[in-house]
Amino acid sequence: MTQLGVAVVGCGFQGGIHARNVARSGRARLVACVDVDGERADHLARTTGAGRSGTRPEEVLASSDVDIVVVATTTHTHHELALEAARHEKHMLLEKPMAMTVDECLEIEQACSEAGIIAALGYKFRFTDAVREARRAVPSPSVLVAQTLYDPSPQGANAWVDDRALSGGRLVSSLVHSVDLLRYLSGEEIIRISATGASITGTADPDTTTASLLFRNGAIGSIVHGTAGASGLLSTWSFQTADLGTNATVHDHGRRLIVHRQGEADTIVVDPCGDPYEAGTAQLFDALIDAVEGETTELPGPRDGTLSLLVARCIEQAIAGGQAVTVPSL
Ligand SMILES: NC(=O)c1ccc[n+]([C@@H]2O[C@H](COP(=O)([O-])OP(=O)(O)OC[C@H]3O[C@@H](n4cnc5c(N)ncnc54)[C@H](O)[C@@H]3O)[C@@H](O)[C@H]2O)c1
Repeated sequence: MTQLGVAVVGCGFQGGIHARNVARSGRARLVACVDVDGERADHLARTTGAGRSGTRPEEVLASSDVDIVVVATTTHTHHELALEAARHEKHMLLEKPMAMTVDECLEIEQACSEAGIIAALGYKFRFTDAVREARRAVPSPSVLVAQTLYDPSPQGANAWVDDRALSGGRLVSSLVHSVDLLRYLSGEEIIRISATGASITGTADPDTTTASLLFRNGAIGSIVHGTAGASGLLSTWSFQTADLGTNATVHDHGRRLIVHRQGEADTIVVDPCGDPYEAGTAQLFDALIDAVEGETTELPGPRDGTLSLLVARCIEQAIAGGQAVTVPSL
């Protein structure tokens, strides 16, 4: 069987992770690395053994040897690139946030559905062994917690994330991960939010929030998210779900799980991924290949991309307005 051809568009930090996963997967060919910055594209193509490199996304999006496009560019370009990929009937792995606005997300959803293509969102945490097992251990949590506390970025590191016109805002840019994971772990939608926010690093918009969530089934949740400084115990990313004497705590960037059941010895699950930033990414790509090859698999899709952005924007709205916000139904 001919292997599926993959093009990576956006050869920075995250595009590099995806390109290396494709090159290692054995289930697809990395045919092209593309970036408006030609040196980045050349470097990634050279180091991953990709067939070619280029600076014009429209070329690979139209190319017959490309079946899947990985979109890992700065967020303000996702909408246009995703619509173009759908127009050419390419399957895609689209990085988060899906787009800048909920309306743009809805347009991408529609384009993917009309083109009959599969689009997976970059919600990698869903795919670590620790998160998978947490979901099995507490299938219907009554309380959910996501804590994401970063160290403040060194100056110049991914400076575009602080530019709202390019990233959609530093807070929302990563908050969508927490929202998606709590939706995934609860299996329910978030319907009401109250939140407070602050700017710890001096950005114009809040970079940090504490938000309270109500889920449709009555479960409650909390998100602490921001840039004040990472936890040495829990790591930057940690999640907890709990119900009636069972608590699943995921820490170490989503790679370790402790399940505590009242009256029993704790169980520990460790994901084998050695690099915290890569955790879940290879499994996400594998699941996309499974889906493209016609196997039944659970993927974070365009609707998940839209809903995570919608809830993150509602959290921003709750911070700005100082009032609880009801999440509109789509
Ligand atoms: N899922 C995750 O855990 C995760 C982690 C980090 C970043 N991301 C997301 O991945 C995307 C990229 O982030 P990054 O950290 O890799 O940024 P980065 O700055 O390291 O890389 C972005 C690259 O995109 C290129 N680019 C910009 N516009 C382009 C266009 N129109 N066509 C081709 N190339 C273009 C830039 O030149 C740059 O090389 C963002 O949407 C970000 O939110 C996701």
